[in-house]
Amino acid sequence: MLNIDALRSEFLGKLSSVKSLEELKKLKSEYTSVINNLLKTLKDLPPEDRPRAGSQINQLKTFVLESIDSLESEFKKESLEKQLQSNWQDMTLVLDSPIGALHPITLVKRKILNYFRQIGFSVWSGPLLEREDYNFDLLNVPKDHPARDMQDTFYVNIQGYLLRTHTSCVQIRALLSSPLPIYLVSAGRVFRRDDDPTHSPMFHQIEGLVVDKNLSFGQMRAVIEGFLKHFFEEDVNLRFRASYFPFTEPSAEVDISCIFCRGSGCSVCKNSGWLEVMGCGMVHPAVLRNCSIDPEVYNGFAFGAGLERLAMLLYRIENIKTFFENDIRFLKQFNV
Ligand code: PHE
Repeated sequence: MLNIDALRSEFLGKLSSVKSLEELKKLKSEYTSVINNLLKTLKDLPPEDRPRAGSQINQLKTFVLESIDSLESEFKKESLEKQLQSNWQDMTLVLDSPIGALHPITLVKRKILNYFRQIGFSVWSGPLLEREDYNFDLLNVPKDHPARDMQDTFYVNIQGYLLRTHTSCVQIRALLSSPLPIYLVSAGRVFRRDDDPTHSPMFHQIEGLVVDKNLSFGQMRAVIEGFLKHFFEEDVNLRFRASYFPFTEPSAEVDISCIFCRGSGCSVCKNSGWLEVMGCGMVHPAVLRNCSIDPEVYNGFAFGAGLERLAMLLYRIENIKTFFENDIRFLKQFNV
């Protein structure tokens, strides 16, 4: 006769002294083979005893496996608890690390590009190391123009290349590669050999170009007016003064009524009541022709402004150098 009860109590004794998952595994394999061996002895019993013995062995098997499983899940729960305790971190702990701020030039650039995106312009970019012909020749800048002089332009020792002196070269890139009509803006760094409180050898410009059919100076004026009113968040008055750029004809310099004294005269506007903010004009037919566009069919207008100049007016900053010194006390004022 099988002594199932003795086996069961022997198993319970061993189970109660198990301390770890490893020990439990050993116990499991020990009893699996004990039970398997028992099942093998069934065939030696008289046939009439086999069903009862079989069912007793199977009950023992179920009991053993269930007891082991429940102890196993207890062990696992315990070890997870332990792990959670040792890895515990206080997610509510306030770390005293200062939060960065966007650079004022970045803020101004985003404000402008977002405005033009909203009125349907696309945003282009161009390389800082630019082809000399895109920066000058195709923009109708004559070979002997003073801007090409070594005093103004940073040439590099790669024949035919320079550090772009303005963003107007992006106009050429667009005219050569984009289907018409074109409504674009572009902003980025430009370089000139210039250095005083209002000039820096590296600064940023924003460029706008529209090429379509039957465009007028009045439409250009409306676009520029909308932009400047949005930018200064003020109902500024505009004044267009005749000017000269090789790539536009006619050309104009745009002034706004002084945002500091509202036109009555102050030190910022040098008592004139006006602030010069940008250049603009109707795209010169020669520029269109240089890019294989028929100026009898299409015309255009373009405008350009210095981002530092706009930022200095918007934030009332006096020296252009403060943009590039990266003094944390200056920069953190723009933390919004
Ligand atoms: N590229 C000119 C400058 O750097 C600005 C400008 C752009 C003028 C577009 C007219 C049209 O001064």
